[in-house]
Amino acid sequence: MTMAVVISRASNRVFVGLPLCRNEVYLQIVRQFTFDVAKGRFLLSLFPKFLKAVVGPLIPWARRATRDASVYLTPIIEERQKKLKAMGDDWTDKPNDYMTWMIDEANREGQPTQVILEGLMVSNFTAIHTSSNSMTQAVYHIADSPEYAAILREEVESVVKEHGWTKVAFGKMWKLDSFMRESQRMNGITHISVMRKTLQDTTLSDGTFLPAGTIVAGASSATHRDARSYHNPDIFNPFRFADMRTEDGASIKHQFVSTSPEYVPFGHGKHACPGRFFAVNELKVMIGYTLLHYDLKFESGQPRPDNSSRWHSVVPPRKDVLFRKRQVVAA
Ligand code: HEM
Repeated sequence: MTMAVVISRASNRVFVGLPLCRNEVYLQIVRQFTFDVAKGRFLLSLFPKFLKAVVGPLIPWARRATRDASVYLTPIIEERQKKLKAMGDDWTDKPNDYMTWMIDEANREGQPTQVILEGLMVSNFTAIHTSSNSMTQAVYHIADSPEYAAILREEVESVVKEHGWTKVAFGKMWKLDSFMRESQRMNGITHISVMRKTLQDTTLSDGTFLPAGTIVAGASSATHRDARSYHNPDIFNPFRFADMRTEDGASIKHQFVSTSPEYVPFGHGKHACPGRFFAVNELKVMIGYTLLHYDLKFESGQPRPDNSSRWHSVVPPRKDVLFRKRQVVAA
């Protein structure tokens, strides 16, 4: 929950900008929305297919959260639409955030305010739970292994000194990128990924026949622990992918954002997560900043406990982490 608070605020800095991204009531609504959607989906899954269309519209939670968020979002959307109409391309200080991009796109497509509103809610749904889970796992690994923290900190310090907190800088943080990619490999968010439904009868290359309407998914946890793809797959090796990148002529295929049949935390193929480029940079800012400004450790000084599973979700353990402000901050 702590990370959901941090992520909702950081993500909304980009989604809707200041000052709304610091409005605690609005942030509480969008966080609640992510739980409401999950709760609604679970409830709906208990009903047979023919009843879903009847029951779905009766589940109130997500719609209520959207209505509550609308009180904050709709006036801003309408205000921006008014200015766009009045000034067009002459609006020099037009906000450069996700909401404005959505407004521009909706105008191009002739879509109403409600579509922009729902788009913002869906973006919050996709961003908050996933990224807070990833951040929690990364923080646990740092608290567990101060020796890795020291190496990562050195990298972040030297890159930020030369390039500032820029996109170019994040591209140069190979060790941090590798650490996060390895954390996702070992932990992930779900045990399955790349879930698809066959729209027509399909025969796979090995002869497996899938009738139309079959739901298939990749076994991500098993894939990520496969010794044919990963040396010592059960060992957390934070710099595994940075080493592979060095050995492989700086290949981009070992970057955190890169997906493959062997690496599916962001899915793979046509429907691979489009938000991963944003999520990876957001996580790098947060972890980099945390490393530069804080020392972390588990309260009890014990090793990190294991994840548990709920349905096909990976659930990080609940464990307090102590943050102590560093005495010397270089960047
Ligand atoms: C660490 C953070 C994230 C993780 C681990 C993650 C993971 C995933 C996964 C596994 C999928 C399914 C891909 C597939 O089936 O091939 C997905 C889809 C998607 N994600 Fe993410 N995601 C993250 C962050 C985000 C963010 C920040 C956004 C938007 C701002 C986002 C937007 C989406 C959307 C729109 C889809 C659906 C894509 C489609 O069906 O074509 N995600 N994500």
